[in-house]
Amino acid sequence: MNALIIGGGAREYAIGRALRADKNCEKLYFAPGNGASEKLGANIAIADLEELADFAVKNDIKLTIVGGEEFLTKGAVDVFRAKNLAIFGPAKAAARLEGSKAFMKNFLADNRIPTARYIETDDPNEAARFIATLNAPIVVKADGLCAGKGVIIAQSAEEAVKAARDMLSGTSFAEAGKRVVIEEFLDGFELSVFAISDGRDFIVLPACQDHKRLLTGDQGPNTGGMGAYAPAPLATDELLEKIKARIIRPTIDAARIDGMPFTGVLFCGIMVVDNEPFTLEFNVRFGDPECEALMALLDSSAIELFYNAAIGRLSEVKPRFSDKKAVGVVIAAKNYPYGSSEPATITIADDAENENAHILFAAVSKNAEGKLTASGGRALVAMGLGDDVKSARRNAYDLVGKIRFDGMQYRTDIAYQALRS
Ligand code: AMP
Ligand code: GLY
Repeated sequence: MNALIIGGGAREYAIGRALRADKNCEKLYFAPGNGASEKLGANIAIADLEELADFAVKNDIKLTIVGGEEFLTKGAVDVFRAKNLAIFGPAKAAARLEGSKAFMKNFLADNRIPTARYIETDDPNEAARFIATLNAPIVVKADGLCAGKGVIIAQSAEEAVKAARDMLSGTSFAEAGKRVVIEEFLDGFELSVFAISDGRDFIVLPACQDHKRLLTGDQGPNTGGMGAYAPAPLATDELLEKIKARIIRPTIDAARIDGMPFTGVLFCGIMVVDNEPFTLEFNVRFGDPECEALMALLDSSAIELFYNAAIGRLSEVKPRFSDKKAVGVVIAAKNYPYGSSEPATITIADDAENENAHILFAAVSKNAEGKLTASGGRALVAMGLGDDVKSARRNAYDLVGKIRFDGMQYRTDIAYQALRS
């Protein structure tokens, strides 16, 4: 089967690596891919959705997988389905669960799915009145997509009112901030739980933990994610059962009943408070770097899993996951997440990769001499596998030690929550 992956990060690279390992995978394409993805398949430079769908028809692509939310919220799945192409991801209507936080919160409230108490509004005075009813810290969120930056945890009511006013006036996030969600702060631990669904059935993947802050010890600004591991031992069977019964099942059912069946992967950002799960957010795609850890653990056919979800036959697959643990450490370029960085040549020791250590590439390019360079942003993920989290983490950091480029930055404490005694 020929397959196409839309995107160019380490998430898409990890999916590509899993497809490549599948005996049923013939030609593999990335649009646009990155400077290293040609190790796995061919990069194609088409960004227009109609043109991509035409490319898929002409090249006999039987499965397309969309990595990120930008293409999903633009309706990539609708465009492909209109040409009878199988594509993994939600249609535009369901992608609004990520595209609008106000829509998502109202969906949760309408369906009595646990989430933080909130209001959504475009009126600064209404925002201020609700803020006055909450204890600090107070959470203020821009409604639209802000590349992970649209959430302010205000330490006082004054700061929250100012954050809401700045968003609503268009100063902070332009159009994306013209509506805001104000909500109570939930104090607990976070989990990323992924459910693959064909609109009716779903399969929950091993629970992950991400590390959103830039610096070791959860310091510094929020990022797309600086490392992840799975499975997270904090996600007990009892807790996962609650998440399935109270969050995932009602979401999949309500989405279908509302005429926007959820197909693809539902990413539930969960806050666990006193052993009770609350929905912080939904994303309508895999997390990055969580996906890299999950793909490292997938022990059965990736094509079968994604293809059956795409064509509404998820009940026919039983994916298997390794008993191992996976720990992924993101290595980012010098100025991430503040700005761009000068390209820096990457060197990787010859013996860097082995069955318990591999690299997933993201923001990398090839320079004129054919050398790989870190081109800004998150450059790559060093993934370690092991029989326990400790050895997986050791393998990940041994791999980090075999990778060099000027200005490389990474956290030294990925998976600390699993190792805290
Ligand atoms: P979101 O994009 O909505 O997931 O928010 C980004 C991050 O902000 C989350 O991963 C949490 O760490 C934090 N956050 C969001 N909402 C809340 C909340 N209600 N209480 C505590 N932390 C939150
Ligand atoms: N790692 C979190 C995300 O992909 O949104």
